[in-house]
Amino acid sequence: MNDESRPAARLPVWQALKTHKRKIAPVNLRTLFASDPGRADAFVAEAAGIRLDYSRQRVTAQTMRLLTRLAVEAGVEDLRSRMFAGEHINNTEDRAVLHVALRAGRRDRYRDGKQNCTADVHAVLDAMSRFVDAVHAGKIRGHGSRGPFTDVVNIGIGGSDLGIEMGLKALHHHRQAGIRVHTISNIDGTQLADVLDEVDPRTTLFVICSKTFTTQETLSNAHAARQWLADQLGEAAVGRNFAAVSTNHAAMDAFGIHPDYRFGFWDWVGGRYSIWSAVGLSLALGIGMNNFRAFLKGGRAMDRHFLSAPPDSNLPMLLALLAIWNNDFFGAETQAVLPYDARLGRFPAFLQQMHMESNGKRVRRDGKAVGVPTGTIIWGEAGNNAQHSFYQLLHQGTRVVPADFIAPDQGSSRFQDQHRLGLINMEAQARALAFGQTAEEVRADLAARGLANPRIRALTPHKIHPGNRPSSLIRFRRLDPETLGKLVALYEHKVFVEGAVWDLNSFDQWGVELGKKLAKEMEAGG
Ligand code: F6P
Repeated sequence: MNDESRPAARLPVWQALKTHKRKIAPVNLRTLFASDPGRADAFVAEAAGIRLDYSRQRVTAQTMRLLTRLAVEAGVEDLRSRMFAGEHINNTEDRAVLHVALRAGRRDRYRDGKQNCTADVHAVLDAMSRFVDAVHAGKIRGHGSRGPFTDVVNIGIGGSDLGIEMGLKALHHHRQAGIRVHTISNIDGTQLADVLDEVDPRTTLFVICSKTFTTQETLSNAHAARQWLADQLGEAAVGRNFAAVSTNHAAMDAFGIHPDYRFGFWDWVGGRYSIWSAVGLSLALGIGMNNFRAFLKGGRAMDRHFLSAPPDSNLPMLLALLAIWNNDFFGAETQAVLPYDARLGRFPAFLQQMHMESNGKRVRRDGKAVGVPTGTIIWGEAGNNAQHSFYQLLHQGTRVVPADFIAPDQGSSRFQDQHRLGLINMEAQARALAFGQTAEEVRADLAARGLANPRIRALTPHKIHPGNRPSSLIRFRRLDPETLGKLVALYEHKVFVEGAVWDLNSFDQWGVELGKKLAKEMEAGG
């Protein structure tokens, strides 16, 4: 833990950015667009089939020069090389950070000391393939069942749940016929009760997904499910109807998981970065192994882009630098993620853990106070639903909430005309946020509608939209497994860059431990 102290605010470019912000703050997006007809095309970057349009961010060419200098001065590229090289950049846990190895090609070289991570990853992926294919073919069946498994119940929480749930919803139109996948995470028993009411024990496969196999929520749900199964089919069913994904082999033994039905991963995979590993088993069971491998391929394509593109055209870097610009210089405390494709409805929740568990930190890598605001609060909802719930605050509230709008060109269902309407709505909302509606425009509109002057005067302040509210558009051709992989890796690397600039260890999560410990003590009557 001898990392050098390097507060972000002491980087020379940080002061330059502060001065620049004072200069740019009075300039609004209307003026920026009016003074530069090429702006809509200039502030755009595209790679790996993903197009980022950040022309509606409060930036100029000078801002972008300073922000990319920030990435350079903060040593983002050096930390990136160290991560890919398997150095133990998770300094508080003395661990490598190698989720990128989970989507490695067979010839890519990833090592953690003496461990050949690429080879280990592919051995597990191949075992997953055999298992998933055998389940789908009905070669692996439940206890006492004549037919194939019809239901999979993933039991896990946080990183052992969110990616699976998000991916199953996002790729619903790529699902494997004949098998339904359910996810259970909360401890209160309601999700479990509802799923158990629906499924047949003989044709239900439970997947216990827990890196540590010690998580209270997961174990309590897993033991309740085990009891339910054993009550109906006898103890022998446990070895046939349970699989597990964990790094804790002793705990899998104790639970009675069949040796062929367990899938491992490694301590260099953080929970919130683990969907690419065997943690994705239930997702793979839901969409088939070919689709799961396409998802990995997408992640790898984004890794290559992140590794090779210069900062000013590097999508994860641009997203991170814009977030830092809004967060640290304009004081925006939160950021909305607004997908215009309901299949991405759980993407904001997935990004919440990724961002907030990674960068919700107040000390730097060396333990000293970070000194600048970190850890953007991420929230959001599928776009059109959100329009009819919280967009009022986005347009006219006292806080500025930068937004990422995300959408495929093609809809993810057969109702393409409806998707087109969704895209029109997205564009309209982004314009309204950026350009607003001035008092003169409101007055002219009300006068044209024949309202009397006193009424116009009374209504005008309520109808003004201040505008100048920043947003980015993230577009791609269609939402398929490969593109989803690119999107997830895009945001993973964005979080990495933010953490590198703020000098945080983005890969530990000590902040969730105290509450867990207290709950355990209270359960034990302490
Ligand atoms: O909430 C803390 C956390 O440790 C997350 O980081 C993790 O994704 C989740 O709990 C689940 O942990 P496990 O996979 O070990 O059950």
